[in-house]
Amino acid sequence: MESSLPDLEAILLVGGQGTRLRPLTLGTPKPLLPTAGVPFLAHQLARARSFGVRRIVFATSYKASMFEPAFGDGAAFGLSLEYITEETPLGTGGAIRNAAEALTSGPDDPVLILNGDILSGHDIEHQVRMHCAQQAAVTLHLTEVDDPTRFGCVPTDENGRVTAFLEKTPNPVTNRINAGCYVFTRSVIDSIPKDQVVSVERETFPGLIASGQLVLGYADRTYWLDVGTPAAFVQGSRDLVLGRLQSPALPGPTGEYLALDGARISPEAKVQGGTAVGARAVVEAGATVAGSVLSDDCVIESGASVTDSVVGKGARVCAGTVVRDAVIGDRAVVGAGNELQNGVRIWPGIELPERAMRYSSDV
Ligand code: GDD
Ligand code: MG
Repeated sequence: MESSLPDLEAILLVGGQGTRLRPLTLGTPKPLLPTAGVPFLAHQLARARSFGVRRIVFATSYKASMFEPAFGDGAAFGLSLEYITEETPLGTGGAIRNAAEALTSGPDDPVLILNGDILSGHDIEHQVRMHCAQQAAVTLHLTEVDDPTRFGCVPTDENGRVTAFLEKTPNPVTNRINAGCYVFTRSVIDSIPKDQVVSVERETFPGLIASGQLVLGYADRTYWLDVGTPAAFVQGSRDLVLGRLQSPALPGPTGEYLALDGARISPEAKVQGGTAVGARAVVEAGATVAGSVLSDDCVIESGASVTDSVVGKGARVCAGTVVRDAVIGDRAVVGAGNELQNGVRIWPGIELPERAMRYSSDV
């Protein structure tokens, strides 16, 4: 998938707090959460690289100092990486404007902007070419979802011109939404006010449309997922392990599960459905794990069943416990015989006594 685009620069928005993913994001920012065996962003970086992106400026804020140790100068990805930190969060537009100080592109060049929590199979090269061919101010990748109220709703006319941008509206006029990948003409970024909190979704896009500038939609129906909730995060990891979305960053072959170095899975355990098993994690005999993310050094004891869940670093799920659609924080211990389901989250280090009670929101 090597591209013939001229070298492209990108800004990656990674400053959000990842509130909906707590407690996973208490210690690790969302873009660095291990997903199919590698930090989430590794998948986005590798895909961007494959479409001709060569230089990426990270717009950081929450837990800013954790990004550079994870990706360094980017050489391992064939990329050149730069890290820019906001002293206080500037919102999506303010972050783009702030990070643009580190761009080398000229005023007429296209610049790619990526939300840092998206898995997408779309053709970035095609999006950039369309932007350049039509000399748009901004070209938004659009996708379709069942519930547009949680996203930016983006109606277009018959030529693909965006006619409105309605962020998280309770009354969406279309199922077509902003998929969180933009091509901006560089000079348009420079027109965003400096050192101010600005939302591209609530201010910049509506403003450009109102002033008659050309905002285009690039709509497609390829794989797309925002991993901002625990259920979506687990789904993203699962889809990558199963190969539903190809990622050059996947640290092993696709299949029912992916196990990192030092993981010990008993031959009498069942691990399936796109589960990722972290380094040195242990799955004992008779345990069943399906469609889940097991973090490094966690232990799933014999007879436990873990489905569609995240088990944090060093956590322990004791014998016979049932965990479904739940998040177990780092180093937490779920005593034998408990049943955790329906979005339950256990905070890091918490110890649930053996069979103490049912922790389920449906009881
Ligand atoms: N640097 C920086 N500073 N980054 C930020 C800030 C900030 O103040 N605020 C948010 N971000 C980053 C987040 O880290 C994330 O990568 C991206 O901006 C989008 O923020 P989310 O918090 O994930 O927004 P959302 O998912 O509710 O909505 C956005 O994405 C949807 C698609 O997934 C919007 O762009 C919607 O319009 C869109 O449909
Ligand atoms: Mg998001």
